[in-house]
Amino acid sequence: MTAKRQREPAALSAVTVWDLPVRLFHWILVGLLSGAWLTAELGVDAMRYHKWIGYAVLVLVSFRIVWGFVGSYHARFRHFLRPPSAVWHYARTWRTGEHAGDLGHNPLGGWMVMALLALVLVQPVTGLFASDGFFVEGPLAEHVSPAMSTLATRLHHLNFTLLLLAVATHVAAILAYWLLRGENLIGPMLHGRKRVSADEAAAAPVVRGGIVLAALLLSALAAGLWLLLG
Ligand code: HEM
Ligand code: HEM
Repeated sequence: MTAKRQREPAALSAVTVWDLPVRLFHWILVGLLSGAWLTAELGVDAMRYHKWIGYAVLVLVSFRIVWGFVGSYHARFRHFLRPPSAVWHYARTWRTGEHAGDLGHNPLGGWMVMALLALVLVQPVTGLFASDGFFVEGPLAEHVSPAMSTLATRLHHLNFTLLLLAVATHVAAILAYWLLRGENLIGPMLHGRKRVSADEAAAAPVVRGGIVLAALLLSALAAGLWLLLG
């Protein structure tokens, strides 16, 4: 009986890692970017929706940047942006899973998140100044020279290609964790929780919803954009 008990895996406890605002941010962002891509491909008539979706992306990504300073523990940049030495060590020991204790973004993933956020921010910002030269233009295109608007349009196209590459890398990395390390990262991004040992659970920082603060922040950012463009 004792021997059997010794062979049993240690009991696991569920701890909340991703707050609700981070999870909603992630999956709404995926939906909005898909919508922005679709409406960009559908032609001139759909461009009205393209712009509205783009504004929503701008508000959402601005929210996530502010949330990186005021959100719950694992959402904060200072808790997942690590120095190059930590990133290098993590990359070298990735296969052995030495760092299995990372509850939030791992050292490498943290910088990938920053790259994704930067690309997602540049996309709508360049869109504001972009123009197809005939039928559609961003609301700020008329406030800059034609050369600047052309540059913004080129960047809008180039950045989208980089964004697609980054997203493909991101999804490939998530799949690699699943297939090569047996770690399912998608579940926690849906329900917020990870299962860890009782000791790790006891040491884990408390993560709370913060949904009211997030809603206030989103409203303020949306109002700010409306004032800027109105
Ligand atoms: C983050 C969301 C956005 C994504 C993913 C996105 C993506 C794209 C893509 C892929 C195109 C190229 C379509 C093609 O030539 O086949 C495009 C064109 C365009 N976008 Fe966006 N866009 C976004 C946000 C915005 C915003 C916020 C605005 C302005 C309010 C905007 C304004 C434009 C304009 C004016 C064009 C036409 C440029 C041209 O024809 O060369 N976009 N967008
Ligand atoms: C438009 C496509 C996508 C973009 C722009 C994107 C962007 C991001 C960003 C910015 C984060 C960081 C979350 C935060 O801290 O706020 C993240 C995390 C994450 N994403 Fe995505 N994502 C995309 C698609 C996907 C898809 C399709 C999946 C599922 C296969 C996925 C799975 C995840 C997971 C599991 C995490 C958490 C990673 C971790 O545990 O460190 N993402 N993503």
